[in-house]
Amino acid sequence: MGGGIQDGQPNRPLPQPGSSFIDRIASGGEVDGAGSGSGTRGHGDPIGRRSPIDLRPLPVVRSASTQDYREIVDQAAAAFSVWRMVPAPKRGEVVRQIGTVLRWHKRDLAEVVSREVGKVRAEAEGEIQEMIDMADFAVGLSRMLYGITMPSERPGHRIYEQWHPLGPVGVITAFNFPLAVWSWNAFVALVCGDTVIWKPSSKATLSAVAAMKLIWPVLKSNDLPDGILNLVVGSGPSIGEAMIHDRRIPLVSATGSIRMGRQVAAAVGARLGRTILELGGNNAAIVSPSADLDLAVRAVGFGAIGTAGQRCTTIRRVLVHADSFDGFCASLIRSYQELHIGNPLEDGVHMGPLIDAEAVNAMQAALQQLQDQGGRIIYGGQVLSGGLFDAGTYVTPCIAEARADMPIVHEETFAPILYAIRFRTMEEAVANLNAVPQGLSSAIFTNHLVEAETFLSAGGSDCGIANVNTGTSGAEIGGAFGGEKDSGGGREAGSDAWKTYMRRQTVTINWSRKLPLAQGIEFKVG
Ligand code: UN1
Repeated sequence: MGGGIQDGQPNRPLPQPGSSFIDRIASGGEVDGAGSGSGTRGHGDPIGRRSPIDLRPLPVVRSASTQDYREIVDQAAAAFSVWRMVPAPKRGEVVRQIGTVLRWHKRDLAEVVSREVGKVRAEAEGEIQEMIDMADFAVGLSRMLYGITMPSERPGHRIYEQWHPLGPVGVITAFNFPLAVWSWNAFVALVCGDTVIWKPSSKATLSAVAAMKLIWPVLKSNDLPDGILNLVVGSGPSIGEAMIHDRRIPLVSATGSIRMGRQVAAAVGARLGRTILELGGNNAAIVSPSADLDLAVRAVGFGAIGTAGQRCTTIRRVLVHADSFDGFCASLIRSYQELHIGNPLEDGVHMGPLIDAEAVNAMQAALQQLQDQGGRIIYGGQVLSGGLFDAGTYVTPCIAEARADMPIVHEETFAPILYAIRFRTMEEAVANLNAVPQGLSSAIFTNHLVEAETFLSAGGSDCGIANVNTGTSGAEIGGAFGGEKDSGGGREAGSDAWKTYMRRQTVTINWSRKLPLAQGIEFKVG
């Protein structure tokens, strides 16, 4: 199997121009949320959601029953025994073809993401671009799964390590990056020779179905068996639970809340499986007195407002030197006043809705706590109404003056709230940046070499991502993505994150015709 992989163009499977992409993937307003390739199914509960844009109902996605789940994992395990034997560069060729299909359908897929989770078009297209970038990266990686050779202490011996495929990999994704984060995992896993079982967020099932409907035909046209890429839509308590306890899945890569991450770590750890956890962030940017303030205002604005404050990498705290605090906040407020909030599919809109009314309520509750704890709203934070805004999912982004020690500032509220906090010394700023449970991303705005290097040093930012003169969000796929402390400790996407998706094997070959033992041990019998 796999001999059918040809260097060429995949067939153009879907869609034809005409009706909306969503209608085409979900004929009759319903679609199966489970499958392994050619056939789809969905014997579990139907998931019916409304678009956060206008509360119009989205097609119903039929989730996987536990029986569907079991059959799909069986299929993923069977396909693994085939896929792991396909040469890695040939696996890369399949990922290259997937990248081509994503290029063709970038706009269609982005529209599904916008309608389902409310991202503005530019950011939704950016998300598909992130998948394309990831495909390109994985194609190169498929020829670079290097193992190193080490000198042996024994004559006539060679020691080296090699990397083998690991097995079916479970991928649990969140609503805010419904496709890109899957691609970080799936495309790396594919070139590593693993099969993938994907449980998307129940708030973003349609995007997942749309992506798989485009990608499954690529596998088929290469004569590959079903079970290499699998989809199992379902709730955390049913499908998620089954996945984390499933010994057939040696690695679970999960994105979501810290609470969810603890459950995944405990269950997978108890069976000595591996996890990659990408959990909450509570990212801070330091603005030093030497910073280019215009640049800092623009970067902090995008970092705080992009994806309506619903990125793991969103800037949630801006630490500004006391001498420039008032001026910085005034400029930031001016830029917030120029924002266009509205239908994310329309040109020129900077910020769409939050994912649902629950998220709006959580934002309002956080702002109440902030005020109870002595903080002060200096801009925004209202729930909008009238016309489209009657959906109840639109807010104005908020800037609030806060102190670093307020309990609410130590929490991640998945909404566009930016806490502006004063500092006097760089030591104080770095200490406050690190004084939260999360450790995902961080930034400093400075034109001062010593400040930048202090921030980047071992005693500086404790986060997995540390940026100078650019915001905390919008990471490129080439670096390893992930954070420390309660952010989970996993690494996905670029750099050498692939190593977690493979098993390492240390090999010693004796070609000496004698049997010298390591550590100089003599063992002579008779
Ligand atoms: C996330 O919010 O879970 O760095 C991922 C970024 C994006 C990915 C965010 N490339 O903001």
